[in-house]
Amino acid sequence: MPKPKILLTRHYPEAVIERAHRDYDMVLPDRDVSANGDDLIAQLQGVDGALICASNKFSADIIAKLPEQLKIIASFSVGYEHVDIDAANSKGLIVTNSPDVLNDATADTALLLLLAASRRAREASEMVIQGQWHGWSPTKLLGVQPTGKRLGIIGMGRIGRAMADRCRALGMKIHYHNRSRLSADLEGDATYHATSDALFKVADFLSIHCEMTPQTTKLVNARTIALMPPSPVIVNTARGGIVDDTALIAALKSGRVVAAGLDVFDGEPNLNPEYLTLPTAFLLPHIGSATVDTRNAMGFRALDNLDAYFAGEQPGDRLG
Ligand code: DGY
Repeated sequence: MPKPKILLTRHYPEAVIERAHRDYDMVLPDRDVSANGDDLIAQLQGVDGALICASNKFSADIIAKLPEQLKIIASFSVGYEHVDIDAANSKGLIVTNSPDVLNDATADTALLLLLAASRRAREASEMVIQGQWHGWSPTKLLGVQPTGKRLGIIGMGRIGRAMADRCRALGMKIHYHNRSRLSADLEGDATYHATSDALFKVADFLSIHCEMTPQTTKLVNARTIALMPPSPVIVNTARGGIVDDTALIAALKSGRVVAAGLDVFDGEPNLNPEYLTLPTAFLLPHIGSATVDTRNAMGFRALDNLDAYFAGEQPGDRLG
């Protein structure tokens, strides 16, 4: 029996490509760029499935134009706001994501951002690199101590909980808002807030781990920042669109927000250029899950979903 034909939309890690090559009639684009619009539709002609990623946008419009032969798209990502799930489901196109395997790597990155932002790592590093370090000083580059402070976590799913575990080790007090309250064993010593406003009011530090939905778009904005205690630190490893950049930039400029650590940006990679001028903004290029182990695991998880579908089974991570 011929192998199913699948497209890998990007040059995923070598081990993932090898496995895909072993098990499928695999198509790989010549160049590692994210196709979108008509280019994406053209790439997907003549294949039964595809391993896609968050920079391939599957709007209802695009989905309507996809060939009937394409039966499943398996995303190399936990987030899936790049796919219109309802449109895919009505067309009979199966969509899967790759949750769980990136919890630790993403929470590690959130912790990195929290510490880097609160300890002014960007300014400190620049000082050394620019030759502006002229010796130890008792008052140079004083940051914010996380010990004993309240960390507000928006979205207490698997990544949010992994972040909570890390920050308990820093001596922080964990507060969270989630669509539903966690069971007692998952909640542990964390304090639940039934509304995001209630969480903003106590968040000395805020770390964003929720999905991007119409309800969470620009959830961090001028109004919600104004609810926060004085001089908070804000961390985002989820999706850039959850933060209103204009509001956060104004708050960083005025000092209302003392520092921010950001791995994701609205419209990335074209982030708001004002962030580049703000020494209190510690910026990373969407590397939350970027470790060898994790990226391999994400690819294998996506391939597991394709394998299940082509074996006539229900893929474990089917969405919708
Ligand atoms: C994810 O898995 O959602 C990461 O942000 C990469 O897209």
